[in-house]
Amino acid sequence: MTDRPGSRTALAQVLPERTWTKDEIEAAAPLAPLPAGIQPVIAIRDLHKGFGSRKILRGIDLDVLRGETLCILGGSGSGKTTLIRHLMGMLKADVGTIQVAPAPAVAGMPSTEAGFELGAANEEQLATWRRRLGVVFQGAALLGSLTVLENVGLPLVEVDHRPANEIYERVVEALRRVYLPAQEILHLKPASLSGGMRKRVGIARAIIQRPEIILYDEPTTGLDPVTVSGVNELTLDLQKKLGITSIVITHDLEAAFTIADRIAMLYRGRIIAIGPTEEFRHSPNPAVQQLLTGSTRGPLTEAYLQGTSES
Ligand SMILES: Nc1ncnc2c1ncn2[C@@H]1O[C@H](COP(=O)(O)OP(=O)(O)OP(=O)(O)O)[C@@H](O)[C@H]1O
Ligand SMILES: [Mg+2]
Repeated sequence: MTDRPGSRTALAQVLPERTWTKDEIEAAAPLAPLPAGIQPVIAIRDLHKGFGSRKILRGIDLDVLRGETLCILGGSGSGKTTLIRHLMGMLKADVGTIQVAPAPAVAGMPSTEAGFELGAANEEQLATWRRRLGVVFQGAALLGSLTVLENVGLPLVEVDHRPANEIYERVVEALRRVYLPAQEILHLKPASLSGGMRKRVGIARAIIQRPEIILYDEPTTGLDPVTVSGVNELTLDLQKKLGITSIVITHDLEAAFTIADRIAMLYRGRIIAIGPTEEFRHSPNPAVQQLLTGSTRGPLTEAYLQGTSES
């Protein structure tokens, strides 16, 4: 039997043998060189964001490659949702840039002329960008007063102004893709669904506009193991069949190691480790190793930080 990701035996050989200083643990991981001829879909450089005097993001450098599934791990409150909100153009960085590439040309639809920087984008550019994104919000974020049909179809009504019969067909198709019994639930309100079903409805809404990129904020948190596997399979399926680029924020190591091409870890406002899954697993950074082992001793717990050098 092979070791599960992050298991103690798997990590025994890679645990750091030296003491790391706080600065070393918190240092940003260098950006990986891009494969020849590849332009990232999203290139984040030196992104800083604070709320009042609290610095949440402290210099994020990250490239997202077309067609990849990139998982971002990080403790609660580390700034994961804040990062997603920047990618959606809902928050403006204090410092730094988020460059987005032009949409790829598809049959019958020419590519938009150029990429742009999100912080400097005008309303029209932001609308174009948001049209390329599907977002699975932390908590399904469905509207309680609307039915499943209305919730999932909302982007087609409000953004695309599609006719009712087309909306109906596309909602049914999106619900089937997330393995939900469309006919049984179309006219139910979210309160009548289980938590797992609500999450899937949230995913159906994210894919209904056939987005090029999907941002998932904790898609599997709080779900039963079977539903977790279903959501993971769905993410893989969307990547393989539709070529979708996915950024998945998660606490779930098992899920990350199942679906990711690359894994990154956000810690104290920086990406401290990033790489293909196996490379990430062997990162010597003690914060990564603590996350992978679930140990209570390490840089993720305050007691350890107080005991380490502040230099
Ligand atoms: N609009 C805001 N105003 C003030 N503080 C905020 C705001 N948004 C986020 N924060 C703070 O920024 C920090 C990071 O929040 P964020 O929601 O990004 O964390 P997270 O990594 O997504 O956590 P979780 O895993 O619990 O979802 C938190 O301490 C939060 O209180
Ligand atoms: Mg969050």
